[in-house]
Amino acid sequence: MTLIDGKKVADEIKQEIAATVEKMVAEGKKRPHLAAILVGHDGGSETYVAHKVRACEQCGFTSTLIRMEDDATEAQLLEAVERLNNDPDVDGFIVQLPLPKHISEQKVIEAIDYRKDVDGFHPINVGRMSIGLPCYLSATPAGIIELLARYEIPTKGKHCVVLGRSNIVGKPVASLMMQKHIPGDATVTVCHSATVNLKEICREADIIIAALGQPGFVTADMVKPGAVIVDVGTTRVPDATRKSGFRLRGDVDFDNVAPLCSYITPVPGGVGPMTICSLMRNTLLAGQGAIYPRN
Ligand code: GUN
Repeated sequence: MTLIDGKKVADEIKQEIAATVEKMVAEGKKRPHLAAILVGHDGGSETYVAHKVRACEQCGFTSTLIRMEDDATEAQLLEAVERLNNDPDVDGFIVQLPLPKHISEQKVIEAIDYRKDVDGFHPINVGRMSIGLPCYLSATPAGIIELLARYEIPTKGKHCVVLGRSNIVGKPVASLMMQKHIPGDATVTVCHSATVNLKEICREADIIIAALGQPGFVTADMVKPGAVIVDVGTTRVPDATRKSGFRLRGDVDFDNVAPLCSYITPVPGGVGPMTICSLMRNTLLAGQGAIYPRN
C-alpha cells in the first residue's frame, strides 16, 4: 500500500509556482493577486481562508482578505463582488462558502466575473470544463487529478466510483475522470443518497473517490483488494485529546481500508493540501492571462 502524500506534492507545486512568480517579477510583471471574501466566522471557513492566505505568501502572490459580518446583506456582498470584478489589480478572487442562509450562493457565484473565478464555480467555467475547453478547474477535483498524475496511477479504462454529487467535488471530478485525457479516460459511476446497491457498486471499483462528508462511510467490505482510494472527507469530529477539541475525519474507515488498497490518501494530508494548491495554480494562470487573455 502506498500512502499518497498530498502535503509533499502540494509543497513541490507551490515551490514551482513561487519560482515562476519570481521570474515574472524579474521580467517586470506584477505579482499575481488573489482576493478572498469571508462572510461570518464559521470555524472551518476561517481555517481554510487562513491557509489560502498563507499559501499566497509561499507562492509570492499578493493577497487581500475582505471580511464581512454574518449579518451582511446579499446586496452588500454583491457590491463587494462587483468591486473586485472591476479592480484591475485583482487577478482572481473567491467567495468562501458556505454563506449565511439569507444569501443565495448561486446568485453570488454567478455575479463573479468568470475570468476572475479562480474557484472554477461559475457556470461558464463548469460548462467549459465539461466539454474539455481551457478554464479554471475547480480546486478539489483538479487537486485529485494532479495527485493521480504525479503518482502515475493508471486510470484509463478503470472503473471509477465517485461517492457524492456535490457541485464542488462529486460532479466535476466525475466529469474530469471520464474526459478523454490522462488521468481520466475512466468508466465513471456516480453514487449518491438515492443509489441502490451502493456497497456492491463500490466493490466493483478500481478507484473510489469518496466525497460525501460522512466520516468512516467507506468500510473494508466495500473495497476490492488493490483499489485506489481518494478520500475527500474533512468532517470535524470531537476529540478531547486535542487543544482545538476536534480532529478531521475522512469519509473512509482508514485503519481497516488502508491495508487492502494499492494507494490511499490520508486525512489530513491527502487531498486537502492539494485543493489550496490548485487555487494557487489558477491564480497564477489568472495573473498570466493564460486562460482568458486580458484586453
Ligand atoms: N468551501 C469549501 N471548499 C471551498 C472551495 O474550494 N472554495 C470556496 N470558495 N469555498 C469552499
